[in-house]
Amino acid sequence: MILVTGGAGFIGANFVLGWLASTDESIVNLDKLTYAGNLNNLASVREDARHIFVKGDICDGGLVASLLDKYRPRAIVHFAAESHVDRSIHAPGDFITTNVNGTFSLLEAARAYVSRLPAGERAAFRFLHVSTDEVYGSLNPGDPAFTENTPYAPNSPYSASKAASDHLVRAYHHTYGLATLTSNCSNNYGPYQFPEKLIPLMIASALAGKRLPIYGDGANVRDWLYVGDHCAAIRRVLEAGRPGETYNIGGWNEKTNLEVVHTLCDILDSLVPTGTSYRQQIGFVQDRPGHDRRYAIDAGKIGRELCWRPVESFDTGIRKTVQWYLDHQDWVRDIQSGAYLQWVEKNYADRTSVSGRSA
Ligand code: NAD
Ligand code: TYD
Repeated sequence: MILVTGGAGFIGANFVLGWLASTDESIVNLDKLTYAGNLNNLASVREDARHIFVKGDICDGGLVASLLDKYRPRAIVHFAAESHVDRSIHAPGDFITTNVNGTFSLLEAARAYVSRLPAGERAAFRFLHVSTDEVYGSLNPGDPAFTENTPYAPNSPYSASKAASDHLVRAYHHTYGLATLTSNCSNNYGPYQFPEKLIPLMIASALAGKRLPIYGDGANVRDWLYVGDHCAAIRRVLEAGRPGETYNIGGWNEKTNLEVVHTLCDILDSLVPTGTSYRQQIGFVQDRPGHDRRYAIDAGKIGRELCWRPVESFDTGIRKTVQWYLDHQDWVRDIQSGAYLQWVEKNYADRTSVSGRSA
């Protein structure tokens, strides 16, 4: 049995589905079901007795302690977080509460739980903290990619809150001997990603005939990893990672935002032709404040030490992803309700159009 937090979100749900498909081990899935949590992501395992869903907050130390005592998991895999940079700029408070205080609360519960375990179970227990490459800050063109030794330099309230949580995890290993593992991954894409993030937002907006809003000049670079590859890496770190270590995870796929959006438009042009290219819908809008210019991950350590490598190239992964969104337009439509529309209004209304389409 393992305990997963945030398993109704994008990566967590992919992890839960992949786990239940590839092992016999049960999962307790603790998720608060914020706007980003969606039980539809887990519909295919609704009848699976190995999946125990608990609606609750990681900040609730009493609840976490009771789950640990009841189910006696051999590991915690911690995904739960506020995860969207733009939201962290508009309202940072929730990011501190969940990402910092929530991780602290989970670490405290884990520390107390482990201290009550018999020696054998204590030695086997792992706390795997899922984090981001954004903690390392922004690279210039030509700078070497982030390694596990790159100094932290977070620039957004989101990345600062994740950096704080990474430091707490590190401290709990160093001070209390908790067997922690931290993974710092690049931008994920794939099924079940909430359509506020670049790739699903652009697919949904293209199909709806709306503007495709590119921040700034579109030359910001991200490294992209297919979510199934990220989940496989996490399983591998859990299985064979060395306690106290951190592992960078990435796809060796650096792309500018404009390249990504052009690729999406070209795939949609071939799968859902309208007579005009979807590229015509691209519009450049006011930049994100403090927008990091470039992220790049050196995933050499996890390759060398744990023999993990991504299976999908950007070309294969992005095609699968577009096809998934075309096949699951109901899933997107269910999300695009009142609260989602309010967010879109808030984030994009005050971004004056710099060029291209304005609506
Ligand atoms: P997401 O926003 O899609 O999902 C987050 C999940 O956490 C949701 O189900 C939400 O309901 C739940 N949650 C939020 N606050 C909670 C709380 N207080 N208690 C319990 N549950 C709560 O996020 P995601 O994109 O799946 O990211 C998962 C993790 O991976 C995060 O820690 C994120 O920082 C990290 N990460 C994400 C990416 C990416 O590209 N999406 C890349 C690297 C690392
Ligand atoms: P996002 O998916 O929000 O992930 P992150 O900020 O964590 O990297 O954004 C990916 C990139 O796409 C980032 O450089 C910002 C850019 N972007 C746009 O240009 N337009 C948009 O509407 C969004 C949501 C993002």
